[in-house]
Amino acid sequence: MDAISTEGLTKHYTVGFWRPRPYAALDDLSLRVGTGEVFGFLGPNGAGKTTTLKLLMRLIFPTSGRAEILGRPPGDPDVARRIGYLPEQPYFYDYLTAEELLDYFGSLFGYGAAERRRRTSALLDEVGIGGERRLQLRKFSKGMLQRVGIAQALLNDPEVVFLDEPMSGLDPLGRREIRQLILQLRDRGCTVFFSSHVLADAEALCSRVAILAGGRLVASGALSDIHAFHVHGWELVVSGVGEPVLEQVRARGQALRVTRLADDRFALELPLTVAPERVLAELATHGGRLVSINPLRDTLEDFFVRQIAAAPKGGRMDRAS
Ligand SMILES: Nc1ncnc2c1ncn2[C@@H]1O[C@H](COP(=O)(O)OP(=O)(O)O)[C@@H](O)[C@H]1O
Ligand SMILES: [Mg+2]
Repeated sequence: MDAISTEGLTKHYTVGFWRPRPYAALDDLSLRVGTGEVFGFLGPNGAGKTTTLKLLMRLIFPTSGRAEILGRPPGDPDVARRIGYLPEQPYFYDYLTAEELLDYFGSLFGYGAAERRRRTSALLDEVGIGGERRLQLRKFSKGMLQRVGIAQALLNDPEVVFLDEPMSGLDPLGRREIRQLILQLRDRGCTVFFSSHVLADAEALCSRVAILAGGRLVASGALSDIHAFHVHGWELVVSGVGEPVLEQVRARGQALRVTRLADDRFALELPLTVAPERVLAELATHGGRLVSINPLRDTLEDFFVRQIAAAPKGGRMDRAS
């Protein structure tokens, strides 16, 4: 059974006061997320990520299509007990302390006092809110609030966790800690579905990703597949050989570009059609030595940018209407 699946999930909003017209915040999204996966839901601002999460949480209703979580429709009470959710902008009553807040959420799940104390204390330790647990939330930084939000999402030991931009507003150290936390959840068998507009977050974590742009799914699959698709050449770093020799290689079309890195170090960019061994063999006859060789591939960032550039502009309703 899939942890999460959607089929043609679509959400239209009516926008414009003088000339009201439908606008597809999400258009025909079909996705499957397996149990135990860490799934990255990627896309720039406005792509439709939060809309999707709200549809899955039954905070808003789809215009068409359907979704299932753990084989049941969203909003099913049995499902609600087995999932956790961190909203994009969690709002907490900020005169409560971290401890009091979690205790309150624990009572919503029906836990007794001792159980609430145990869970609250363990979770605050886990998300790194140690000494600050008796501090009012209004004194918390954005990063600390984000951790409290994550603790809240994990309070009921969920099987599936939905995190909407869990790393946003965090400094690099905070991001790393949240990443580690997500990996711990994965090791425990928890399914994690998180959204992000920062691709490095997904690169470090995800078994699979979906990339959303303009309300539409533009790519999905294992990150390694998406990367592999875009290997487009080799970078050779060499030393011991002078610029004139390298210039000849370039002039023959065997290198697209030659860049001096340091006094005696050059980077050559070879197209995929040129075998690096041949170029190296030739350079060796001139005293050249290989320092390193790297496949040239687009980063996820490049991919992202290209997909967005290719997405139809202003035509969000052209399939829906
Ligand atoms: N209540 C709403 N009414 C009208 N448009 C909305 C509403 N909520 C979201 N949108 C629009 O839907 C699109 C997707 O938004 P959202 O799902 O929040 O994107 P993301 O989370 O990927 O940044 C955006 O263009 C946003 O302006
Ligand atoms: Mg969002």
